[in-house]
Amino acid sequence: MSRTISKLLGSVLEAALTPHPVDRYLELVDPRITWSELRAQVIAVQHRSDRSVTLLLRPTRQWTGFDAGQFIQLSVVIDGVRHTRCYSPAGSATHRDHIELTVTAHDDGFVSRHLRNHARPGQVVGLSPAAGTFTMPATRPSQMTFISGGSGITPVLSMLRTLVAENYRGHVDFIHYARDTTDHPYARELEAIAADHPEWNIDTRFTRPAGDASLSEHFRPDHLPSPLTPAIPIFLCGPSALHSSVREHLTEIGALDNLHTEQFVLIPPAADDDAPAHGQLSFAASGKDTPNSGGSILEQAESVGLQPEFGCRMGICFSCTAVKRSGLTKNILTGDTDAESDQHIQLCISKPVGDCVIDI
Ligand SMILES: Cc1cc2nc3c(=O)[nH]c(=O)nc-3n(C[C@H](O)[C@H](O)[C@H](O)COP(=O)(O)OP(=O)(O)OC[C@H]3O[C@@H](n4cnc5c(N)ncnc54)[C@H](O)[C@@H]3O)c2cc1C
Ligand code: FES
Repeated sequence: MSRTISKLLGSVLEAALTPHPVDRYLELVDPRITWSELRAQVIAVQHRSDRSVTLLLRPTRQWTGFDAGQFIQLSVVIDGVRHTRCYSPAGSATHRDHIELTVTAHDDGFVSRHLRNHARPGQVVGLSPAAGTFTMPATRPSQMTFISGGSGITPVLSMLRTLVAENYRGHVDFIHYARDTTDHPYARELEAIAADHPEWNIDTRFTRPAGDASLSEHFRPDHLPSPLTPAIPIFLCGPSALHSSVREHLTEIGALDNLHTEQFVLIPPAADDDAPAHGQLSFAASGKDTPNSGGSILEQAESVGLQPEFGCRMGICFSCTAVKRSGLTKNILTGDTDAESDQHIQLCISKPVGDCVIDI
């Protein structure tokens, strides 16, 4: 059946089955069969370190693949409620029939701990198409540097594995910062790639080695075998302290322009010339309010016991969008302000400037 006829048939069916889309009926038969929604079945679950779980997913036919470094949104239903979080595939982008995710469980992390403890082969999860601009140039440069820390290894490992699969002939420096030897789900994989590619520099450093704290190693420019220069693209993903150290060094040597980064948590821009927070933040639908603390509207809503939906908490997934009834808000990432009423805003990257009413 051609794609156009298939789409047409889908629209007719959707209209006939209103109020529920076709996929709501199909999932009663088998959640792996979908008309339009992208989903995936967990086909393998591995615990390669105490804190992490590695999931191998087989996506439904709507999956169109990803570029190394991009992320997807994964949805899981926990106690009857759907929760969505972003994860970066760790496998080579040349493998289009499955997706490998490695999720590190945070101590108080809701979805990550659930996946670590409860993910099982056969489970069906929701998936979004891949997105994001943290990718290598399509024409591969002759040399690249990759720096990762902790769970941030996934998108840069995907790049490394993709280069291996492509038989890349250029030079690679790859350095990963793990807490200790037990907290490194990809230790063996990196060793194997290093053994197969002795011309590349692949190294792991430990920030919390067992026993002797004096052996702790955080990023230092001399950890990299080839000095960073403005001509060499650098791909960085890891905790905010690692981002700061690398940025500081690149600023000193004038090489910041060639830095490509991915962040798993919001790192607000350093310069914040805001006056002290003032005003009252009110939530119209729930009747709750709080003195404006200056934090994001999402955090302030959570502080009064509300549970708005969220995914990335950094402005990329749009799952936290709600209507601002009135007031002035400021975009935490860009500094832009918005005074228009009855506007959809992203709660995770908006903060009130004075009195503000949000419809949640
Ligand atoms: C583009 C992108 C790609 C990502 N890729 C991966 C990946 O490949 N592997 C992976 O393990 N995670 C990845 N993440 C992080 C992931 O989306 C979740 O944030 C993480 O799993 C925690 O979700 P949770 O529901 O367990 O925690 P929540 O219950 O949402 O949060 C619990 C607490 O932890 C804090 N928190 C949330 N996320 C983080 C974090 N990343 N670091 C420190 N504190 C945090 C929250 O502020 C909150 O206080 C990615 C995030 C983004 C935006
Ligand atoms: S939670 Fe993703 S945009 Fe706000």
